[in-house]
Amino acid sequence: MKEKTVWFCNNCGNEYPKWMGRCPACGEWNTLTEQKITPSVGKASAGSRVPGEGRKPRKLSEIDSSSEARISLNNEEVDRILGGGIVRGSLVLVGGEPGIGKSTLSLQIPLGCPALSTLYVTGEESERQVKMRADRLGGDASNCRIYSETLIENVISEARQIGPDLMIVDSVQTMYTESVDSTPGSVSQIKEVAAVLLRFAKETGIPVILIGHITKEGSIAGPKILEHIVDVVLQFEGENRGSYRILRSIKNRFGSTSELAVFEMTGKGLRQVANPSELLIPMHEEGLSGTAVAAMLDGTRPFLFEVQALVSSAVYGTAQRSATGFDTRRLNMLLAVLERRAGFKLAQKDVFLNMAGGLRVNDPACDMAVVCAVLSSNFDLPIPPDNCFAGEIGLSGEIRPVAQADRRIAEAARLGFKKIFISSFTSVEGKAKGIEVVKVADVPALVKALFQG
Ligand code: TYD
Ligand code: MG
Repeated sequence: MKEKTVWFCNNCGNEYPKWMGRCPACGEWNTLTEQKITPSVGKASAGSRVPGEGRKPRKLSEIDSSSEARISLNNEEVDRILGGGIVRGSLVLVGGEPGIGKSTLSLQIPLGCPALSTLYVTGEESERQVKMRADRLGGDASNCRIYSETLIENVISEARQIGPDLMIVDSVQTMYTESVDSTPGSVSQIKEVAAVLLRFAKETGIPVILIGHITKEGSIAGPKILEHIVDVVLQFEGENRGSYRILRSIKNRFGSTSELAVFEMTGKGLRQVANPSELLIPMHEEGLSGTAVAAMLDGTRPFLFEVQALVSSAVYGTAQRSATGFDTRRLNMLLAVLERRAGFKLAQKDVFLNMAGGLRVNDPACDMAVVCAVLSSNFDLPIPPDNCFAGEIGLSGEIRPVAQADRRIAEAARLGFKKIFISSFTSVEGKAKGIEVVKVADVPALVKALFQG
């Protein structure tokens, strides 16, 4: 058969017949790489069709959904973000930067769950290395098989013979298939490997956890281009220096997305943190200036954490602005709002912002806590440690309502907070017990209530 050359975009995975400087689909520059393809009959659409299903349209009511049985992985947090266990025949992608703990987590699952027979395929580490790690992690290794292999056809044929309850493949970048003529880790290899695994999972009903590396920019061929192939995408994140790791579901065909679980990396692997709020809020009794607690919501779970800010006079000509775990552009916008709408002279100040525990937040409700932490540091006035905040800040300095205020208030009350500041425009159903709800309309009103009240 004649060889064909195509160009793939490393960022979004789109395919083009010729080279271009810029990918028309995602707009990224210089991401097209050349790849040789040997066409093989019947393979092309492997990823897009679920095999073994009827070819004729059927009524929804006639389709049996009981095959979507879930298997518990005996790990509460992982089960929860999957939507109550892993679905039979599903392909779950776990993405994250190198060193974040993907291999650790995926080895801890079989070790903590000896009731399931598991096959752990490793293309990155030798069997001995995996064994050493397993010894360190502890747990019951009696029902877990390790297979060190990178040719996906061999993996599939072994897996068919063994017939495990769960298969883990570490990682998609190291696996390759003979049907595609390019190096492991290239776009076409990754796509084909994922398609082969998807077919295997659907045909056998064996759930597969697939690990994928992602770089800071997310641009190296990998998880990004797999997101539409797999059933579930879990993303592992965390600041490298911190010991907290966050597992987030960003796509889930069988449950809600933006669920979140917190883990702590310890000497014996990852420990589940069932109640993240208790770890992420301050230990100090007396309020320190420059800290404020945000009542944030991630997925369906409310939790509270501390925002820390340091404002100091700029030493050099231009003021520095730096944010860890928070969007710097958003910080700049909030500072501009404080300057223009509330009259605080921050232009000549350095502002540093940090989210406790290496958390990365994107809930707009954290705006109010960020502003309060900045002002508290600027005035050197502490905020009482039993106060917390949930509100988005608009460009004209108004405080806007946030989603599910009731749940945030309830969580704050449960953790012993005495006051929560929210937008005046929030409608709160029912009365919260043991917590005072303070409604503020804009930044000046917030400043008055907090620092001049
Ligand atoms: P790893 O799971 O190998 O990361 P990934 O597969 O995502 O690349 O995790 C590597 C890091 O985790 C490594 O820097 C050491 C740390 N670690 C611990 O702190 N404790 C442990 O028990 C283990 C196994 C790893
Ligand atoms: Mg690894």
